Order: sequence, then C-alpha cells, then structure tokens
Amino acid sequence: MTTSWNRKDQHIHYAEMQYNQPKSNGLDGVRFVHQSFSEISVKDVSLHTNLDTLNLDVPFFINAMTGGSDKAAIINKNLAYVARETNLAMAVGSISIALNDPTQQESFKIVRKTNPNGMIFANLGAHHSVENAKRAVDLIEANALQLHLNTPQELVMPEGDRDFSSWLKNIESIVNRLNVPVIVKEVGFGMSKETIQQLIDVGVTIIDVAGKGGTNFIEIENQRRELKEYSYLYDWGQTTAESLLEARKFASQASIVSSGGIKTPLDMLKSFGLGAVATGLSGEFLHLILTKGTDETIHQIERFKEELTHLMVLVGAKSIATIKDQPLVLDSHLTNWCYQRHLP
Ligand code: FNR
Repeated sequence: MTTSWNRKDQHIHYAEMQYNQPKSNGLDGVRFVHQSFSEISVKDVSLHTNLDTLNLDVPFFINAMTGGSDKAAIINKNLAYVARETNLAMAVGSISIALNDPTQQESFKIVRKTNPNGMIFANLGAHHSVENAKRAVDLIEANALQLHLNTPQELVMPEGDRDFSSWLKNIESIVNRLNVPVIVKEVGFGMSKETIQQLIDVGVTIIDVAGKGGTNFIEIENQRRELKEYSYLYDWGQTTAESLLEARKFASQASIVSSGGIKTPLDMLKSFGLGAVATGLSGEFLHLILTKGTDETIHQIERFKEELTHLMVLVGAKSIATIKDQPLVLDSHLTNWCYQRHLP
C-alpha cells in the first residue's frame, strides 16, 4: 500500500484488519463479587447518565472515527442513522481535514443532516486554535467538542506533527472560550493520573481515557510506513483498566469516560465499576457497520442495552453512577499497578 491512498480510508482498512486480533483492555483483570441477593428489579434500572452538563439516555456511544473521504461519508451516514434509531450519542472523526479542504465538509455534515436532533460530538486535535474549534462545532452544530491527544500516533505517522509544546495551553483557551462542553480524549494509549490532573487544572470536566486494548494507532500508522520500523512499539500505553484506575480518584472532579477495546456489556459494566460514567466504542461499531449493515447494528445495540440492564440487576445497581459502589476484586497485575503508582 502507498501513502497516496487516502489516509482516512487507510485508517478504516487497517482498523478493521485489527478487529479479530487477540488484545486485552485489562478488564479481564477486574471482577465483580457475585451476590445472591440483587434486591432490585429490571424495571428499577436506568441507563441514563450525565457527562458534566450533557445528558445521555444511553451510557455507551459511537466514539470518534471518520470523515474526509467518500467511503467515510457513507460510514458516517450509516452510523448517524444507527445513532438516531437507537438514541446513541455519536462523535465524528477529526474535522481538521474539512477545515483545510471545503470539499470534504459534506462527509461530516451528513451526520447532522441524518440525525438533526441527536447528540453529536465534533472532533479535532489539541493543537488547533479556538477559531478552528468554533468552526468545527459550527460545521455540524455539535453538542460538544472532543479534542484528541495522540502523540504516539503523530510521531509514528510519516507526515505527523513534530511539535507538542502548545497542546495544554490550547486546550485551556478552547475550554474557556467555546460555548459547548469540551471532552478531552486519548486515541487508544490511555491516560495517567498526571495527565488527568493537568487536564483538570486547565478546566477540563469530561475526560475519555481511551486506553490500550482495542484499535492501535501505532500499528495503523506503522502499517502505512514503508519500512514498518515501529513494530516494537505496539505495546505502548496504559490499558483501559489501568487508565481507569489512574482516573479513579478524580471521579468527583470530572466525568470519566472509558474507551479502548470495549466490546461487550460486561466490559461496559466493569468500566463503570471503576468509576467511568459513560463508555465509547469505535472499533466494535466500525466492524458491525462494515460487516453487518445498519439494521443488524441497530439490533445489536438494542441487545447491548437489554444485556447491560440485566448485568446492572446482577450487581444490584439501579443507576450507572452507583455501579462503582459494588465490590470489585483486581488481579495481581492490576493490584501491583495500583501499588507502584500509589493509587487508592
Ligand atoms: C479512530 N479514532 C479517532 N479518534 C479521534 O479522536 N479522532 C479521529 O479522527 C479518530 N479516527 C479514528 C478512525 C478509526 C477508523 C478508528 C477505528 C478510530 C480513535 C477512537 O476514537 C478510539 O479512541 C480508539 O479507536 C480506541 O477505541 P476502540 O476502537 O478500541 O473502541
């Protein structure tokens, strides 16, 4: 493959090729303690949740993926249709490409056209100006803006950014001057307590830890390199479970979102048990939409909602926010991680 093939289409292609690779988001090292008395009924359970001021009827959403090619436009249209039919929030991929090239705007605008009343998040890299942030939000009348942190991806990407000195300052300016909520997210390398503290210090209130264990952008960008020299770096970053443990003590200061290799309602439940209040799925929804189409994806999402409700009954939690009050046991790896990182 050569780099002349549209980068956005390459991302879709390589991400889908990764789908069946065995990977761990670390949540297999987290277990709820089974209790024989649930003491609640299915009808008591609510899937509603809040990300700061954003109200979500469903605690899982379609996380950032695409836009910026003809194929991306079709995928975005299909995902927006699925989101509308199932009442899921949805993020588009980075709008950066459409700010430079107006011919690419339609592949993003199609999302708002397809789902006029839906909860939609715009997406940009953290190096962008306040003006670009406003343009991205206006383009799709977004309810919030995601800013992504992707240093490993940029460095492995042949044409990637090489200067990361202004990100935190930019984020602070955007948070202060944008009139919609800002969500800061990783892209599959996870977060540390130091990063989360820095984000909270500049006023960020919604943080998606986007851990390792699902789509791997070092691998995707390395596939695009002629020599593929970065294959030794595929294990870089914190898993989703490790990232959520890093984030746990900030639960009262920011709404924590889990993502990175989330595929099942049990992954979702465990991440809520570690303090997340919502969860984003990219690779899983990409795979569903590409291989099953819109109708089967809608059915799958409805099954996810029902199964998550049942799992909440299993742990005796009526709301997403109270799942974290249920007893959990961590495996020796995660216990050791907490010990060395001085996590509660
Ligand atoms: C992504 N992701 C992403 N994230 C972002 O903030 N802006 C973007 O433009 C993209 N683009 C993108 C394209 C494709 C094809 C995929 C699969 C993913 C990253 C995504 O939002 C998420 O953080 C990671 O993919 C990890 O989650 P999953 O895929 O393991 O659920």
